Formats: sequence, structure tokens, C-alpha cells
Amino acid sequence: MDSNKRPESMARITSQPMAERFIEDTVAELKKQIGDGKVILALSGGVDSSVVAALLIKAVGKQLTCIHVNHGLLRKGEPEQVVAVFRDQMNANLVYVDAVDRFLDKLVDVSDPEQKRKIIGAEFIRVFEEEARKLEGVKFLAQGTIYPDIIESKGVKAHHNVGGLPEDLGFELCEPVKFLYKDEIRVVGKALGLPDSMVYRQPFPGPGLGVRCTGAITRDRLEAVRESDAILREEFAKAGLEGKVWQYFTVVPDYRSTGVREGIRSWDWPVIIRAVNTKDAMTATIEEIPYSLLKVITDRILAEVKGVNRVLYDLSPKPCATIEWE
Ligand code: XMP
Repeated sequence: MDSNKRPESMARITSQPMAERFIEDTVAELKKQIGDGKVILALSGGVDSSVVAALLIKAVGKQLTCIHVNHGLLRKGEPEQVVAVFRDQMNANLVYVDAVDRFLDKLVDVSDPEQKRKIIGAEFIRVFEEEARKLEGVKFLAQGTIYPDIIESKGVKAHHNVGGLPEDLGFELCEPVKFLYKDEIRVVGKALGLPDSMVYRQPFPGPGLGVRCTGAITRDRLEAVRESDAILREEFAKAGLEGKVWQYFTVVPDYRSTGVREGIRSWDWPVIIRAVNTKDAMTATIEEIPYSLLKVITDRILAEVKGVNRVLYDLSPKPCATIEWE
């Protein structure tokens, strides 16, 4: 039997009772596989790795160590949420690695998008590897591989040059959700008691805000991306669009334009809003955001985000544009 093929007998998980059954069976299997061994997991806070963490906490508790790498390119509030949910509420072993300076220093003056991706991916593996080596007697590496990863990218979780996790550490893989589709992961996440903001989180690229701060990343412009993204997400949530629009975010390009504030000319960045709908990310259409909402978001960004004097709405579908700007 192909160990990477979803069993034909496996019914699609669509309800809470089905998710509970899956959790029960998976926890039993994990206990059997892991025994009294130690497991590590790179926990980004995305729904896939969060579900794997919650399953493993149920199965083996403190035998699991979660490693959360803050590379400085996460959205506002994300690292704090990972610590609050997994360390404070679920009482997990969580190693929080503040690698912000390490990543941002490596990215200084790097403007080529693929080069940026490679640096972020390679540095991530390096940091994770260093943390893994500090722990003694780890036998298993858990991963949030889901079925589309297997079908679309031959089992490699992160794509677009971000790479996989280290193979040379000799860990045995533990992939408890590898036969689940995204919708099933969300049902299971909900049944595990994870917060909605984690369960229904929109897709977020591995290189994070790094590909939304176009060209060479600077700390001040990255902050403008993070703050404008937080405002956009907050206003979308208030308007009931969270979980309804497939992906929405802001981009701050590396060029400026003139503006005027309180009679003084400015030379600041624009913020570009992107909100798209898609089934498979291969093509995408534009969400028709009500004008009144666009106005609220624009006013807030102009009032609250430093270094910004214009807000634009990107109306380009995929194709011709891609979803991300880089
Ligand atoms: P594009 O820009 O190619 O994006 O139309 C399609 C989907 O892929 C996501 N994306 C990435 N995800 N690493 C990721 O993990 C990346 O480097 C990357 N680049 C794009 C993008 O957010 C969208 O959902």
C-alpha cells in the first residue's frame, strides 16, 4: 500500500462527532508510535501545525517540545497568541525563539524576491536545527503536512524555495494529519478547542510579511506593513468578512510619493490593499469591498500608520497578477 495515499475507506470529516472520532483514533496511534519517546514540532501558529501540536499534547503531553521561531515577519499578535494558547492554556513545552534580529540582519539590502525567500527558508532551518540540537534524546519530528501538500508538492510542507525541515538530524517523522484536507483540519481544530482566529486563519506564506514589504526590507517599512495589515484584518472582522474572503493583506512597496499633511509636504509610502477569492490559488478574483469599508480602512491607515500618505486598492485578478506582490 502507498503510505502517502489517503485510504479510500476514509470518510470526509465534516462534523464534530466525526472529528472527535478522528482525534480519539489519532491520539491512540500517536501513543503507540511514540511510546515514551520525545517529539519536536516547528509550531508556526498556522492551523496545520497548531492542530498537530494539540493532538500531540493530548497524546504525549510534555514529551512534545514545540519550537516557535519568531522571524520578525509574522503578523501583529501572532507570536503572543502562540505563547498564550500553547504555553499558558495547554501547558505545553514551548520554546519561543526570538530570531528577529538574525533574520532582519541577513535580509538587509536583499531586494530579489527569490533570494529573500531562500534566505528566510535557510535561516529558519538553521534556527530550528540549533534549537533541536539543544534538546536531548529527541526521536521524532512532527510535521503539519496535510494531504494537498502530498498531492501538490510531493510531501514538502513549505514550498516556493522555503524548503523542508532538516533530514540529517535522523528523526523519525510523525505526520498525524497527512491525509486531511484543509476543511477537515479546521473541523478537527475546532473540536480540539483551538481559538477560531487560529482555526479559520487565512493562508499565510512561509516568508510572511517579507514578501509584502517589497524590495529590500527595512524595519520601518516592515512595521508599516504589520500595522496596516492589523487594521485591515480588524476592520474585515468587524464587517463580518473574516473567514469569508479567502486572503486579504496589505503591501508596502519600496517607493514613495509626495503628499501633504497639516500644510507640510511629505514624501511617504503608499499602502496597497489586496483582497482575493480563489479555490486553489491558481486563479483569483477580487473581493468587491464596499466603498464605505474601504474608506474606513483608508482613514485609519492614514491616521495610524507611520510613514504612509496614500492607500490604494489592487483590482488585478490572477492572472495577470499573482496574489502576492513578490
Ligand atoms: P501567488 O502570489 O503565487 O500566491 O499567486 C499563491 C498562494 O501562495 C502563497 N504564497 C506562498 N506561500 N511561501 C508560501 O508558503 C511562499 O513563498 C509563497 N508565495 C506565495 C500566497 O500567499 C497565495 O496564498
